[in-house]
Amino acid sequence: MDTLPIIALDFDSTEKVESFLDQFDEPLFVKVGMELFYQTGPELIKKIQQRGHQIFLDLKLHDIPNTVNKAMEGLAKLNVDMVNVHAAGGVKMMEQALAGIRKYNPETKIIAVTQLTSTTEEMLHNEQNIQSTIEEAVLHYAKLAQQANLDGVVCSPLETNILTEALGESFLKVTPGIRPKDAAQNDQKRITTPEEAKQLGSTHIVVGRPITQSDDPVASYQKIKESWLG
Ligand code: C5P
Repeated sequence: MDTLPIIALDFDSTEKVESFLDQFDEPLFVKVGMELFYQTGPELIKKIQQRGHQIFLDLKLHDIPNTVNKAMEGLAKLNVDMVNVHAAGGVKMMEQALAGIRKYNPETKIIAVTQLTSTTEEMLHNEQNIQSTIEEAVLHYAKLAQQANLDGVVCSPLETNILTEALGESFLKVTPGIRPKDAAQNDQKRITTPEEAKQLGSTHIVVGRPITQSDDPVASYQKIKESWLG
């Protein structure tokens, strides 16, 4: 499955997003997360769509099933291309999230966060009291997401192998933690290049700072796009 690299718009204002997008003259796939959405709201979503871009709205919903259902009904009206929830909310919550989106929108992909990439195995054991490896915990949550009929998960590119084996190629594996060979790692620890992510089975990659903080964002994006699409 070939899709565009998803550019993480980790900015704090509409102005910064617009001046970033002004540099591109092609349709993009962008990610709007909490930082941006909480400061700009649905208005910015409409503006990005009017420019012809696809949107992954990364709000990671996690609440009781009824609340998530109603929140997803609201988000469904924005007609974004992808939304997400935390798998830790449970199968019922994920089913209700899907029902909420589907009430107004037949197309939007809905995926689940398994374990945040900031969670270490030590935190998994000591704070969440889950006594398994990170990989086992990720696989377990991914199975629940598939059971709830979600389209896929967010995971590390280094976990995609086992997920493809257990859940199939078409189950989406959306992976941050991507760095071109020459880029700074920033706070990303378990990273791969775009080519490696593709070989390992990512269906979508999410890339932020190597593009948004680049001296030449368009050139950096083109390089990443070429190595991802092959
Ligand atoms: O690191 P980069 O700027 O490419 O991050 C892109 C996206 O990856 C961020 O929007 C965030 O959602 C996610 N991320 C992550 N783990 C980190 C840092 C960022 O999953 N340690």
